[in-house]
Amino acid sequence: MAKIFCVANQKGGVGKTTTTVNLAAGLAKVGQRVLMIDLDPQGNATMGSGVDKRKLELSVYDVLLESASVAEARAQSDKLKEGGCSYDILGANRELAGAEVELVEVERREKRLKQALAEVDGEYDFVLIDCPPSLSMLTLNGLCCAHGVIVPMQCEYFALEGLTDLVNTIKQVKANLNDDLQIIGLLRVMFDPRITLQQQVSDQLKAHFADKVFETVIPRNVRPCVQGRTGLCHLCAGDGGAYPKNVRSETWDCALTPPS
Ligand SMILES: Nc1ncnc2c1ncn2[C@@H]1O[C@H](COP(=O)(O)OP(=O)(O)OP(=O)(O)O)[C@@H](O)[C@H]1O
Ligand SMILES: [Mg+2]
Repeated sequence: MAKIFCVANQKGGVGKTTTTVNLAAGLAKVGQRVLMIDLDPQGNATMGSGVDKRKLELSVYDVLLESASVAEARAQSDKLKEGGCSYDILGANRELAGAEVELVEVERREKRLKQALAEVDGEYDFVLIDCPPSLSMLTLNGLCCAHGVIVPMQCEYFALEGLTDLVNTIKQVKANLNDDLQIIGLLRVMFDPRITLQQQVSDQLKAHFADKVFETVIPRNVRPCVQGRTGLCHLCAGDGGAYPKNVRSETWDCALTPPS
């Protein structure tokens, strides 16, 4: 059975997509069968995996509206194959923004993705879902099918405030819709230890969330921005570098530990 993880934080620009594609590539690099689902109409994880969102014939939109199965809509990327870290991609583009409205009338609309994934469950070891920067029906679909949530965050002033909303949403989903759901870990990204405020927020995080904070810290690094322009925003592209490796092993540890 595939382990399904959402990468979520309703705050924008905190590194969700970068974390998702790097983790997907890192897991693929060591032979895991991975499906990466882009649940964001911005389509950044799709582009970041080397698939042109403007040329998608079928996407996660069609899967949510039940006009295609995951097997029909998934794509692969030559760039990932070249890098030796190939994973399947269920892509997204701006069409997905319409799904929110189109699903309003539908019954069990928050379980659409879960139902669709059940058909390919045996084909993957990991399913990673890149969520949009909102607590919307799209994010809810991700949370309803996931075993866990990875929360990337920047150690900044308002970070903890937003986190409370996210944690409450996760608790509500767990209580009402998906008993399997747990927080896998909070991942401190774009971290600069020279900035005192970041250290303070980091300390507060550890005080509040203790062992739910990943040991691994992702430093601010200019490389993802540069590589983003080429269409691949991996830090590892070819070599499974430190970012995916350390986050991968922590995710792995959590994935193999039964939920408490
Ligand atoms: N460790 C890092 N160091 C420097 N820049 C980074 C790092 N991680 C991500 N970035 C850059 O920060 C920006 C936001 O990252 P990303 O797109 O992953 O965030 P996001 O949470 O997915 O954003 P959104 O909420 O819009 O979906 C991007 O330009 C990305 O290249
Ligand atoms: Mg994103």
